[in-house]
Order: sequence, then structure tokens, then C-alpha cells
Amino acid sequence: MTRPPMPDHRPDRVPFWRHLGMFRRDILSTQPARLYRAKMAEVKLPFLHSVMVNTPELVRLVLQDRPRDFPKSDRVREGLRLLLGNSVFVTNGDEWARQRRIIDPAFEGGRLRDTFPAMWEAAQAAANRLQAGQIEIEEEMSHAAADVIFRTLFSVPIADGTAAEVYRTFRAHQRSAPILNLAALVPLPRWMPRFFPRQTRTTAARIRALITQMTSARMAAIQAGTAPDDLATKIMTTRDPETGSTFDTAEMVDQVAIFFLAGHETSASALAWTLYLIATNPDWQARLADEAQALAPYIKAGTAPEFGLLKQFPLIRDTFREALRLYPPVPMLVRETAGRECFRGRPLGRGTQVIVSPWHLGRHEDIWQDPHEFRPERWQDPATKRCARDGFIPFSTGPRVCTGAGFAMAEAVLILARLLCTWDFRAIPARVPVPMAHMTVRARDGIWLELRARE
Ligand code: HEM
Repeated sequence: MTRPPMPDHRPDRVPFWRHLGMFRRDILSTQPARLYRAKMAEVKLPFLHSVMVNTPELVRLVLQDRPRDFPKSDRVREGLRLLLGNSVFVTNGDEWARQRRIIDPAFEGGRLRDTFPAMWEAAQAAANRLQAGQIEIEEEMSHAAADVIFRTLFSVPIADGTAAEVYRTFRAHQRSAPILNLAALVPLPRWMPRFFPRQTRTTAARIRALITQMTSARMAAIQAGTAPDDLATKIMTTRDPETGSTFDTAEMVDQVAIFFLAGHETSASALAWTLYLIATNPDWQARLADEAQALAPYIKAGTAPEFGLLKQFPLIRDTFREALRLYPPVPMLVRETAGRECFRGRPLGRGTQVIVSPWHLGRHEDIWQDPHEFRPERWQDPATKRCARDGFIPFSTGPRVCTGAGFAMAEAVLILARLLCTWDFRAIPARVPVPMAHMTVRARDGIWLELRARE
């Protein structure tokens, strides 16, 4: 297998806090080699105490065993407040637990099966939108993933007027606020004010107004008994089993905002990097394309396959997993200590920033063999189970694990298979993508690939 681009120069002597800033510019070449071996890294400044935990034991402690002692910080909430309000992504404690009790049933296995035809329609549309020649694939995948969200949540394609405007405004919002998005990831001192430029406030307000419009219309349809049976209806009619309450419209707007954001930015990033890795490994791509032909009869007949057909794409699924290991869309998870702690003999005061890095765990040299190599066949080796348990957390782990993990896996395998059925992807040697951390791992100048129609 071809190795994804790795830098020759990975500085080891730059202080850790500078790396956090550099993380944003070029994750691969600015990461010191020692962080791929380290068990913990610490930065202690007068205004900031931050640790990155990098062993399976500490990660489990923070995310799985005692998550209430390591909540999301108010700083994270503050950085995302304009767009996400009080959505499940930023809340803590009882408020968060209630939101998950209402949301989780919508993403259970049976419901996934129900949303599959809508995913299929989005995959078909994506394959038909692509054209031969050199294209920027991140943009295409954003479009496809946003289409999946709107079709499954609200039963409308992205071409629908309001959905299209949400998507367009969100692109403008991203352009005006990439650093603020990063503010949710990089620890900033508590006293540093959050500054939202006017354009960012305007675009966030517009997106929320549009989502409010869609959510209110849905609430009215539910009351009139005319609502379609999709994810929005399911979430808006699910009662909290403990209190019997449902989301009101305002609460639902916050949740729709996070489904849209978390559900399309992440999947788009993962799909684009997967296609890049596939494009750089033509022999492997040929095997995947063979596997994808199981969809050909459905394309020809114009009918949606059954959910169970996904089982026929094990190599595509493993390729997607390998891409998630190498390019986890959410590179860092940020928490803080609710009280005093002691990690590896280091005392941590209350409010210490705790960073868990799917990026470093996925490439940790104590966990993985050939950690920086693209080797999708490793997922067929039973020994990989142990590595994955210790170092594979692209969806996080523990009670705050990504709500949409199963949804995202199904969507990605389906879209990849559908695209590979029709299109041949080639890397462009002069355009090697440079990964950088926005809210998700994106390429600095996009991911450019050459597409040819498959025979
Ligand atoms: C490849 C695709 C995806 C990846 C890699 C991903 C990754 C993640 C990660 C790492 C978190 C935890 C963040 C943290 O704790 O700071 C998370 C949370 C979340 N994700 Fe995803 N996600 C993906 C797709 C989706 C989709 C499709 C949806 C919904 C449609 C979704 C909804 C959410 C929500 C609601 C949360 C917040 C959960 C909570 O805090 O309780 N995600 N995701």
C-alpha cells in the first residue's frame, strides 16, 4: 500500500502549547514525533493548564469510567453557542442525559433501516452530480453528506429551497468563522473574550431562523397528523422515559443545528479522505470497485437496495475504518476536570483542560503496527481488535459516544460503494492535500482528484 504523505520534518523541540496552534495549519508535519509515542503531554502556563492524555487507561477513565468528572467546558459551549445553542453536543449532566434519552432511539438499528432509502437517494444524486475531470472532492462530499441529513431528518433533498439556503449560509458561516470553530478545540485562557465577527453572527442567526422555520412547520404537521415518518418526527414525538416530556420547538432547533453540523461536516471530511486514500492505491481501488458492483442491478433497476446489502461491502467498510484511523474527522476531544485529579503522578487542579486526541491515538506507535501506513487489510486481522479497543476512537467512546456512529458508517459505506460503482478516482501528484484542523480535519487547499467514468 502507498503511504499517505508524511513529513520528513516533525519538530521535537517546539513547546507543546505552540503545537496546539500549529495543529491548525498542518497537522501532519507540525506534530512532534514524540506525541505519537507519548503517554501524556502537559502545558502549564500562568493562565492555562492543559494535558493531553494518550494512554488507553487514561482515555477510558476520562471518557468511559468517570465522564461526569470530566465534563465539556463552558468555553466549548461559548465557542459554539451562536450556532448550536444548548444542543446535546455542548450540554452536561442531567440536561445532557435527558437530551440523549430522547435522541438516541431515533438512531437505533431499526430506524437506520428505515432511513436507508433516503440515504440511497442521496448516494444516487451524488454519483450523478460528479463529472469526469479534476474536481475538489471535499466540496462534493459536503454536498452529499448535507443531502443525507436533510433527506433523513426532514424528508427533503438538499435541492429544496430552505435546505439549500441552510447549506449555502453554512458554507458562508464556515468561511467567516473557521478560527472560532477551532476555538472549541484549542484551549484558550478563560479571560480571553470570545469575539464573534458581525458576519458570523449574521450567518448563525440566519441558519437558526431557517431551521426554526423547518422545525415549526414540522411541529404543525405532527399536530395535524400529516408529518412524514422520518428522523425529525421521531425525535419530536419521543417522550423522555423518565419525565414524559418531549422537546419543544426551541430545544429541537438546537438539536437540528447539531445534527446538521456534526452530521455533515464529519462525514464529508471522512468520505473525502477515504476517496483520497483509495485514489492513491489503484490496486486496492480495483478490488473495492469489484465489490461495489453488487449495487449495479439496483442502479439499473432504479430501486433502493435493502439495508442488509451493506454486509456485502466488507472491504469498503474496512477502508473507511482505516481512513477514520488515519484522518479522524474530529482530531481532538476537549474536556475539563470538575475537581482535583492526579494523572501519572501530576496533580491537576479543578478546571484543567483535558484533551483526548483520536488523531494521536490512531497513529500511536505503542498501539499500532506501521501506524502511519494505509493498510486497510489490517482490519481483517483478529489482532486489530485489541489495537482498535485501545486506539480507535473516531466516534469517541463511553456515554458521550457519537449518536450518529451507526448512521455514519452505513451512509459512508453506501456512498463509497455507489461512487466506486461508476467512478474511477485518481490522485493528482502535484496536488497532495495538507491536512489541517478546522472543526474537522480538512485539507488546506481542498482534496483534488481526477475522475474517470468506469467502463
Ligand atoms: C464520520 C462521521 C462522524 C464522526 C467521525 C463523528 C464523530 C463524533 C465525535 C468524535 C463526537 C464526540 C465529540 C466530543 O465528545 O467532543 C461526536 C458527537 C456527536 N455526533 Fe458525531 N460523528 C460523525 C457523524 C455524525 C452523524 C451522522 C450525526 C447525526 C446525524 C452525529 C451526531 C453527533 C452528536 C449529536 C454528537 C454529540 C453527542 C454527545 O455529546 O452526547 N455525528 N461525533
